[in-house]
Amino acid sequence: MKIIGSGAEATIYLDNNKVIKKRIKKSYRIKEIDEALRKNRTRVESKILDKISIKAPKLLKTDRKETIEMEFIEGPKIKDLLDKKPSLAKEIGEKIATMHNEGIIHGDLTTSNMILNKEIFFIDFGLSFFSEKIEDKAVDIHLFKQALESKHYQVDEKTFDAFNQGYKNAHHYKEIMDRLKSVEERGRYKKK
Ligand SMILES: Nc1ncnc2c1ncn2[C@@H]1O[C@H](COP(=O)(O)OP(=O)(O)O)[C@@H](O)[C@H]1O
Ligand SMILES: [Mg+2]
Repeated sequence: MKIIGSGAEATIYLDNNKVIKKRIKKSYRIKEIDEALRKNRTRVESKILDKISIKAPKLLKTDRKETIEMEFIEGPKIKDLLDKKPSLAKEIGEKIATMHNEGIIHGDLTTSNMILNKEIFFIDFGLSFFSEKIEDKAVDIHLFKQALESKHYQVDEKTFDAFNQGYKNAHHYKEIMDRLKSVEERGRYKKK
């Protein structure tokens, strides 16, 4: 088995054409808390992989504790493509709109968690949750925009316009965008 990723939280193995995501013990956390946290994130991620209608790895198996087996998605990460192809932001917007319309908040919308394989696939649902709240959707978009600004120096109005064009399909689009403005204001205020 080959290790293809090791994030802060999990080790990712590739075994034939399947990915095994194993959430690792953190010795700095109290044992009970560490186990509960890994279990919750494993369960939520498998549940969402099972339910979501946008492109995401198929759930193959889980121990409902710390390990998930899923389909391997071949292809480059959006992180490595977006600067050359800002128009990809439109499809990102469309897919996030569909996800939000299903009441799913991703919780970690960065361009490292998106893979292009004909279409854009979303991965890494460990911080996701179900919500219909305007606030939760606005915060999801806020985090995405912040991730764009920190990782993609060339992103400009064009990228955001393309994103917005796709995200227009979201239910309560206008309210979410209005809320986004106040979330951004809060962020600015906090920094001072
Ligand atoms: N289903 C998958 N198909 C292809 N690559 C994957 C898949 N799942 C994870 N990866 C790779 O492993 C990395 C880390 O996985 P991820 O689920 O994002 O966990 P983390 O919480 O550590 O970011 C991803 O950025 C990606 O490169
Ligand atoms: Mg990730």
